[in-house]
Formats: sequence, structure tokens, C-alpha cells
Amino acid sequence: MTMLLMNVRLLCVCLAAVSAMAADDCILNGGKISASEQAVLNRLAPLKHKRIETTYNDGKDSYTYTLILCGGVLEPGKSSYETLVQNRTQTSEITVIGRYNDTQIINGTDWIMLIYGSGDKYDSHCQQEARTAMIMISCNKKTLADDFTIIHEERDKSSDCFYLFEMDSSVACPIEESHLSVGSILIIVFVVLVGVYIIGGFLYQRFVVGAKGMEQFPNIAMWRELGNLVADGCDFVCRSQPRSSETAYRGVGDDQLGEEPEERDDHLLPM
Ligand SMILES: *[C@@H]1O[C@H](CO)[C@@H](O)[C@H](O)[C@H]1NC(C)=O
Ligand SMILES: *[C@@H]1O[C@H](CO)[C@@H](O)[C@H](O)[C@H]1NC(C)=O
Ligand SMILES: *[C@@H]1O[C@H](CO)[C@@H](O)[C@H](O)[C@H]1NC(C)=O
Repeated sequence: MTMLLMNVRLLCVCLAAVSAMAADDCILNGGKISASEQAVLNRLAPLKHKRIETTYNDGKDSYTYTLILCGGVLEPGKSSYETLVQNRTQTSEITVIGRYNDTQIINGTDWIMLIYGSGDKYDSHCQQEARTAMIMISCNKKTLADDFTIIHEERDKSSDCFYLFEMDSSVACPIEESHLSVGSILIIVFVVLVGVYIIGGFLYQRFVVGAKGMEQFPNIAMWRELGNLVADGCDFVCRSQPRSSETAYRGVGDDQLGEEPEERDDHLLPM
């Protein structure tokens, strides 16, 4: 009974920990996130909680837009969820454009689109609906977060108004598979092993055995023997002329030249 109670208590602690973690993250569809959405969200992890800013001047006023992906700009950790905030510089008037408790994610081959809803309501435009921010993240391998800019505010429609932003990031790039095939990995492993063998053997011969010169090369005798065997093998396999004719030829060259005078001597001696 106590065991059961302890397990239940443990489960509660675990659930509390999990929900605390989730509160620190973008919330999609009221918390019912699909596996594929979670996969894209995981790719965005390096950008999370990074403060990204841009300023915009419309001729009359200048505005600063601050984005903290899945994190509160104004009250970090609080449940007001501001992820994209506009600051009208002259008056310090703050308007929340998007909240991360209302996130949508769409992705393609080399881009990720984030849509943050539940922003502050328009006063007169767009039927006083809540503001929405759309952030188009394009693949750029050279940067984690760069060129965050506002492109457009669409607010002259009767509904579905939005602020459109774009930025460059490597997180939007397609995940590259390793280009190394099994064969090239094996070759690399082999080369590394040979290197370790030669260097390790060299050091052993030099400092432990105390060898000098060519003798520092590990197992030199064995390799010489092997070299000779290989040479013999090559000789046997690769020569175009058969070995017998070669010896016959050598017989003409060396043996006959060496033997003939002897024979002559033999003939000469008795005479
Ligand atoms: C997100 O949070 C804000 C402020 O707490 C709230 O007004 C809004 O209804 C929430 N949006 C969703 C989709 O839960
Ligand atoms: C808004 O901008 C003004 C002027 O740059 C600055 O003093 C103020 O702190 C900003 N407000 C917030 C909430 O960042
Ligand atoms: C979107 O992202 C997921 C997770 O990284 C990936 O599996 C999927 O292929 C991406 N969609 C496209 C169209 O590239």
C-alpha cells in the first residue's frame, strides 16, 4: 500500500516536472502537439530564448520589434507569453504582436514559418481582432540568427491581419545526411590503424627496444620477409615471359659465360 502511494507520488512529481518544462516552450494547438510538429520545434531549439531585434522607421515614428522565441519578452517566466513585442520608440508604447501560447509551425524543405497569434487587439483596424505575427525563417548555413526584419504589416483588411517578418537561420536548412559511405569509413579506420601501428611501433622500437635507423620501423624483419614474398609473387604472376625461359636466358648470360672458361680449362688441363 505504501509502495503504491510512493509510486503515485513519484508519478505526480514527474508529471509536474514535465509540465514545468512545457511551460517554458512554445505551445501549439493548446498543448496537443503532433510528433512532426515536435520534430520541427526541436530543430528550433538553438534559437529559443535568444533575444532578436529589429528597428523600423515609417517616416514619422520608429519602432523596435523584439522576438524571443518561445520566451517572454516583457515578463520572462510569467504566463503572459509575449514572444514578439513592438516598442514605439518615442513614447515607449508597448504592443504585443504575438504570444507563444498560440503557436503554429509550418515547414518546407529550406524554410520554417512560425505563426504567433493572441497578440494585443487592434483598436479600430481588422475588426479589433487579436494581432498575429508571421515569421518566415529561411535557410542560411552561415548564421544562427541574422537579418531579422519586418517586411509588411497587413492591417487594411477586414480580418486575418498580420505582421510579416523574415529572418535567416541555419536551423531552417535541410538536415544533411552524412556523405561518408561504409566503404570510406572503413578506409579511414584502416588508415588510422596503420598510422597508430607505425607511430606506436616506431616509439616502442626507439625508446623501449632502443633500435636505431631502419630498425626503428616496427616488425621490420617480418615486413622485409613479406616484401620479398610479395615480390616473388609478383614475379611469378606478372612476368609475361615464363620463368623457365628466363633461367635459360640467364644460363646463356651468366652460367655459360662462367662455365665455358671452366670447361675450356677442363679441356685444356689434360692437354
Ligand atoms: C495566451 O495567453 C494570453 C494571455 O495569458 C491569453 O489572453 C490568450 O487567450 C492565450 N491564448 C491561447 C490560444 O491560449
Ligand atoms: C522601449 O524603447 C525605449 C526607447 O528606446 C526604452 O527606453 C524602453 O526601455 C523600451 N521598453 C521596453 C519594454 O523595452
Ligand atoms: C519538416 O520538418 C520535419 C522535422 O525536421 C521533417 O521531417 C520534414 O521533412 C520537414 N518537411 C519538409 C517538407 O521538408
